[in-house]
Amino acid sequence: VCRGFSSSAVRNVVIKHVTIIGSGQMGAGIAQVAASTGHSVTLVDTSDDILKKSVKGIEGSLRRVVKKKFADKPEAGEEFIQKVLQNVSTSTDAGSVVQGSDLVLEAIVENLKIKQDIFGQLDKVAPQHTIFASNTSSLPISDIASSTSRLDRFGGLHFFNPVPMMKLVEVIGTSATSQETFDSLLNFSKVLGKTPVSCKDTPGFIVNRLLVPYIMEAVRLHERGHGSKEDIDIAMKLGAGYPMGPLELADFVGLDTAKFIIDGWSAMDPSNPLFAPSELLNKKVAEGKLGRKTGEGFYKYK
Ligand code: 3HC
Repeated sequence: VCRGFSSSAVRNVVIKHVTIIGSGQMGAGIAQVAASTGHSVTLVDTSDDILKKSVKGIEGSLRRVVKKKFADKPEAGEEFIQKVLQNVSTSTDAGSVVQGSDLVLEAIVENLKIKQDIFGQLDKVAPQHTIFASNTSSLPISDIASSTSRLDRFGGLHFFNPVPMMKLVEVIGTSATSQETFDSLLNFSKVLGKTPVSCKDTPGFIVNRLLVPYIMEAVRLHERGHGSKEDIDIAMKLGAGYPMGPLELADFVGLDTAKFIIDGWSAMDPSNPLFAPSELLNKKVAEGKLGRKTGEGFYKYK
């Protein structure tokens, strides 16, 4: 990764206090993992109701983790859950909580303007040493960072769903990200118990650049009538050893998310057949069939 020189005197930042903007599935998952590894986490969203639901979700997910990890010690498991939850606080006012943060990690909707606005505002009030990072899966990190004056302390940290289970974090450096910032983000990922990989600020980084065209090929194959959805999924699970087939995975990730990513790439390079849109996918999204989260996508869910 090419790096510009650092404009600040910041050395490797040991990240202890984390503010996470956005308490949806990704934000909550990241908060859970950070709190589980001893960080103090403030989860930020637009209403107390949303935050309450998110913390309930974290508790539920912790129970699943604990059921496995403390299978024969339920009391120690319960203690662990309470300890982790104590590390999580919530707020509807990011500006007032970033003061004490070493890292501000954003995991909100994929809307460049909103992300830029939030980071632009927080840039004015966050301490000098605070690193900013986005969990975006489809927008250039450098575009998001451009609303701030801390280009050297800005990077990407891309997690995977379900965050408590998936071991990978993509660490993204732009051409302006300092080596200190990049190393701090790599270290933070390791302290979370994840394995980081270094990525350039290119569309889809590594995982989605490979995964989204693969999912889209499966949708197109099905659309052409060359395989039932069940057969496609069974084929990739049993023939390639994937834990989920591509259409199950599309439902899991969200068909709106898949569409958003492919539409963006298609606009960027309409001649690339890997980025071609799918009528079937567009129809499902138009009908509100977005996958697991709405109860129906390629499959129906209870
Ligand atoms: N929280 C805590 N624990 C969880 C969990 C969660 N959210 N989800 C699963 N688990 C654990 C639990 O221990 C669970 O046991 P339980 O059901 O008794 O509680 C255990 O995993 C097994 O789960 P399941 O029986 O439901 O099913 P699997 O064994 O198939 O595992 C899976 C589930 C880990 C999700 C697996 O199917 C998988 O790895 N799927 C692929 C996921 C993937 O590819 N994710 C990346 C998507 S791309 C992305 O996120 C990038 C974005 O930018 C688009």
